[in-house]
Amino acid sequence: MTFFNTLFLTAVLLLLHAPPCPAAGGSWSVLLPSIGISAMHMQLLPNDRVVMYDRTDFGVSNISLPNGKCRPNSTDCSAHSVEYDVGSNTIRPLMVLTNVWCSSGTLMPDGSLVQTGGWADGYRRVRIYKSCGTCDWKEIPNGLTQQRWYASNHLLPDGRQIIIGGRQAFNYEFYPKMSATENSPSFPFLVQTNDPNVENNLYPFVFLYPDGNLFVFANNRAILFDYSKNQVVKTYPTMPGGQPRNYPSTGSAVLLPLRLKQGVIVDAVEVLVCGGAPKGAFANANNGRFDGALDTCGRIKISDTNPQWVMETMPLARVMGDMLLLPNGHVLIINGATAGVAGWELGRNPVLSPVTYRPDNQIGSRFEVENPSSKPRVYHSTAVLLRDGRVLVGGSNPHDKYEFTNVLYPTELSLEAFSPSYLDSSSSSLRPMIITSPKKSNYKMRYGRRVAIMFRVSGPVDVNLVSVTMVSPSFNTHSFSMNQRLLVLDTSNSTKELGKSTYRVVATAPPSGNFAPAGNYLLFVVHKEVPSPGIWVRMQR
Ligand SMILES: *[C@@H]1O[C@H](CO)[C@@H](O)[C@H](O)[C@H]1NC(C)=O
Ligand SMILES: *[C@@H]1O[C@H](CO)[C@@H](O)[C@H](O)[C@H]1NC(C)=O
Ligand SMILES: *[C@@H]1O[C@H](CO)[C@@H](O)[C@H](O)[C@H]1NC(C)=O
Repeated sequence: MTFFNTLFLTAVLLLLHAPPCPAAGGSWSVLLPSIGISAMHMQLLPNDRVVMYDRTDFGVSNISLPNGKCRPNSTDCSAHSVEYDVGSNTIRPLMVLTNVWCSSGTLMPDGSLVQTGGWADGYRRVRIYKSCGTCDWKEIPNGLTQQRWYASNHLLPDGRQIIIGGRQAFNYEFYPKMSATENSPSFPFLVQTNDPNVENNLYPFVFLYPDGNLFVFANNRAILFDYSKNQVVKTYPTMPGGQPRNYPSTGSAVLLPLRLKQGVIVDAVEVLVCGGAPKGAFANANNGRFDGALDTCGRIKISDTNPQWVMETMPLARVMGDMLLLPNGHVLIINGATAGVAGWELGRNPVLSPVTYRPDNQIGSRFEVENPSSKPRVYHSTAVLLRDGRVLVGGSNPHDKYEFTNVLYPTELSLEAFSPSYLDSSSSSLRPMIITSPKKSNYKMRYGRRVAIMFRVSGPVDVNLVSVTMVSPSFNTHSFSMNQRLLVLDTSNSTKELGKSTYRVVATAPPSGNFAPAGNYLLFVVHKEVPSPGIWVRMQR
């Protein structure tokens, strides 16, 4: 073969191997090589701290409790929860008393994290963390009527949270309770979707639908549920293929951005469910055979009269991935593995590259593979959106204690940030900077009212390509971000130039708590898909 033939062949092979999507972007940085625990659960708080915890029975962690404190009646003087301060990139150890392993939670309207359940002595606990600089966890024994382990929570329009399911808990309850006798109504959908040997319906995907009902997806199908009447309002078809998408066949899901115009949702309300592990994968993994993860996503217009799943194929198969809404309405799919299932030692072949999904593109041009991390983030890894638009990534510990040597995927104590390509310096002339917000106190918004937001952009602005989005800070664990939602507010192309590089846009707050329950949100101005750093706002009734 001549040199030129070889060159030609090489070029053809390169073309054949070219990824079927645009070039990779984004960048990674290690923020802290060790936070002392493996971040299994994460919640961003409205003061830009992130509270994290793993479990209390891992043995001694790599960070001590402050002032020589030890756990009650124990020789363990290490912390199993920490608070991370995004601004100073520092951590503070916290004392969580009972076992928080595989629990759930919701940021409440007052800015405290109300976390529920866990394991053993933590089954029925409610724990409250209100950040104040020196504050610590407070615990409420028997705060729950049922044991909750692997449940999903959601903030409700009335300011309470609902806690749905958990292992062998085919029911739901609320916190706080209306009365001491408030019980846990049964939820047959969790019985119907429970695979007897392997479950595949834990940590169900729960979203508040803008008519006040809940969309609940478990295993391979979904319902619309009226929790106040304990009635199924609508039953959606099983996802084509019928493959399981919930723990331990852990996929992920998001409610796609809700676009508001004159108080109603433009187009449809849609849910996207991606990845998971095929039927039988849990049993196979326990026998040392690691089935390839699912590479499909199902997308459904849950508001349609005759809703149907539309299937799409991801460029990378993924189990235990996290799906996060970025401030510009794109979906980031990050962390996880390409084989096996969730559970101790049951995942293989980490997926190091995140993938971005652009919901508004044509089918076939929605996915983009991003630059890879160097750190496997498999079982018990986490990801949350930060106010500055970065994604905080932590955790990964597929072992039942801390293991740093002689294992495939050592316990990961590090914190990393993934910066989507909108943070590249090449986008800085497009990037809005909000200048409205009073610096310290969080900006208040009332339902249906307009707010004027001033911002600066250093480069030229296309006023028709400015939008305002609101993102809820979600509770992330086990590949699901509870309470995650993004609203694109009605701005009616109101962006006007005020003076040199300064602009004003008028946005209308969502009409009611069904669209956005009262509480804390991140608000962003987005210009040509490049978001500003967010500001904290408080939706008030
Ligand atoms: C955590 O602590 C253990 C025991 O002291 C040590 O062997 C290990 O290297 C530490 N790991 C990290 C990442 O700090
Ligand atoms: C510690 O042990 C004492 C004595 O057995 C007991 O009364 C107390 O309840 C224990 N405390 C906790 C937090 O378990
Ligand atoms: C805003 O601008 C976009 C882009 O030019 C256009 O498609 C849309 O119809 C405009 N909306 C309004 C309310 O004028």
